[in-house]
Amino acid sequence: LNYLVAKDRRTITNTLICGLARLEYRGYDSAGLAIDGDSDDVLIFKQVGKVAAVRKLVSEATVDFEKEFVSHCGMAHTRWATHGEPSPTNSHPHRSDPSGEFTVVHNGIITNYKELKTVLEKKGYMFESETDTEAVAKLAKYLYDSQKSNEKLSFTALVKGVIKELEGAFALIFKSVHFPNEVVATRRGSPLLVGVKTEKKLKVDFVDVEFGTDSAFAPTEEKVDGNLLSPTEHPKLRRSQSRAFLSEDGLPQPIEYFLASDPSAIVEHTKRVLYLEDDDIAHISEGELHIHRLRRDDGISATRSIQTLEIELAEIMKGSFDHFMQKEIFEQPESVVNTMRGRVNFESHKVTLGGLKAYLATIRRCRRIVFCACGTSYHSCVATRAIFEELTEIPVSVELASDFLDRKTPIFRDDVCVFVSQSGETADTILALRYCLERGALCLGITNTVGSTISRETHCGVHINAGPEIGVASTKAYTSQFIALVMMAIQLSEDRSSMTQRRNSIIDELKKLPEYIQNVLSIDKELQQLAKDVLYKEKSLLIMGRGFQNATCLEGALKIKEVSYMHSEGILAGELKHGPLALIDENMPVILIMTKDSLYPKVQSALQQVTARKGQPIIICNDGDEGISSQYKKIRVPQTVDCLQGLITIIPLQILSYHLAVLHGVDVDFPRNLAKSVTNK
Ligand code: G6P
Repeated sequence: LNYLVAKDRRTITNTLICGLARLEYRGYDSAGLAIDGDSDDVLIFKQVGKVAAVRKLVSEATVDFEKEFVSHCGMAHTRWATHGEPSPTNSHPHRSDPSGEFTVVHNGIITNYKELKTVLEKKGYMFESETDTEAVAKLAKYLYDSQKSNEKLSFTALVKGVIKELEGAFALIFKSVHFPNEVVATRRGSPLLVGVKTEKKLKVDFVDVEFGTDSAFAPTEEKVDGNLLSPTEHPKLRRSQSRAFLSEDGLPQPIEYFLASDPSAIVEHTKRVLYLEDDDIAHISEGELHIHRLRRDDGISATRSIQTLEIELAEIMKGSFDHFMQKEIFEQPESVVNTMRGRVNFESHKVTLGGLKAYLATIRRCRRIVFCACGTSYHSCVATRAIFEELTEIPVSVELASDFLDRKTPIFRDDVCVFVSQSGETADTILALRYCLERGALCLGITNTVGSTISRETHCGVHINAGPEIGVASTKAYTSQFIALVMMAIQLSEDRSSMTQRRNSIIDELKKLPEYIQNVLSIDKELQQLAKDVLYKEKSLLIMGRGFQNATCLEGALKIKEVSYMHSEGILAGELKHGPLALIDENMPVILIMTKDSLYPKVQSALQQVTARKGQPIIICNDGDEGISSQYKKIRVPQTVDCLQGLITIIPLQILSYHLAVLHGVDVDFPRNLAKSVTNK
């Protein structure tokens, strides 16, 4: 939304479409946008497929693209179907009626939409889509139409009325012909941030909330660096409504606001952002931002700070690689270093995770640790559980967030729960976190996204600092999560002198990781050939291993499934005789991970079992291991300490899955039916 900055319609639509393109990595099936028409109307463009399809639709429209607006609010959306198939009608923005009195975009799920729809239909509202969101737009119109003519509600009050009726999760943005050039945005459960861009220096660096019925946010008149004051501590905030942002001379200033669910959509415009909390209602009008609360005194912090994003646009671009997934695989020698930077002292063999410092004693006293995550993040927990238990001697359980919630797992005050999530926004992981918070457990977050819901709602945690990950299939986040968890185990066990030698040997090997990873990346061409000559025509692929390699099997199989659409299964070699062996014959492709650790002899016997059934596995083994017969194809990787070996064995599987995907012609970064961040329950 721009104020006092003249923009033509072309620039406005371009800004919206580019913002959508930046969100493409999240996965979606359709997209749309809404802008102002020539009189009191709204123009909506929606299309199934890529953002490029909407761009085409807009460019073909017969509208005056030169028309300028000094104040304008546009909105755009990429949709991943939850209610109703992907279609232009089901795409957002949704409108209250054909003339678009209220236009809405929504991320999340409204669980009581059927009830709302039934009530509204009885009142004569006709629905055009099958979505939950349309009920929101119609509800806004219903509330608007039913108010008495002498008590016109403000836009904010109207939205308050709407969200009081909503159940479920949402980030919502409203635009209305009744409130031209105003926008109201609100969230509950789904992320939403406000970016602020202005040419002039802002006088205030933060805003505070005042819990009142009308004005909510007002600025302080002094700059207080980094010190966030609550209204009660700062009496000036009780003054009447004033501008949320003032230039130094106090005059209105050209200003642009960007609302987005993800910072990558707006980072090219501004790095100054404010994250909205659940039930915040942000109102932007005439260059001012005011944030209201749905209810007074609901115990939510009275402070919202403006943060400066660290993400660089260049970081989210592909560079010289063909796909983000490939770029991210090849970034791992650096991303693993970024995870350890400033935290691991290789001389003194010490690990310091600043984010956990204040909680170390409590964690050490806990009765168990529960790791909780989804997808690849879950596999990083499986990969590190054994070393965690060995170093800390605290029992660790590993939970899939969805199953953890389904089971209503007992959680107690003396439990420590660790939530691992690349995005920090996965709905099931967030729900599991809230479940554990309610039960009084100490909650830690391990995420890649500063400012994400998980990093904000946990008591403490570790940012993995792997840089933005855009490919839907997670690669570098996995290795960084793995390292973060190992670092955490090392730090927690530093009071156990019996573990000193073990810790030191791990830290020595952490230092060599970039070199080891580089070494595996250098066999990219061989792996590409293997994918082409041996695997790509196959229907299925079993990946076997045991002990520390169990997680590699699961994660390798997940990578192959998600990007190449080939069936693949990770199999714990210890379970072979209990079923999977029945699958083995000369036609079943198998990869066996057989690295040099204490379980090597047991994996050797798994190899014999497979060979005896005419299986011809490809073996992932260590450099210099000459004990494996030349009859097998081998993928050689450097040897490291047992508990870190999984960081190295996963790399050839990531590369193989990438090449299989390319060979199958899959849209590697956006595999069908998947999303980068599953923010819906
Ligand atoms: C989705 C993604 C996966 C990811 C999982 C968990 O399924 O496609 O790549 O591992 O969500 O996401 P999180 O952001 O919580 O790590």
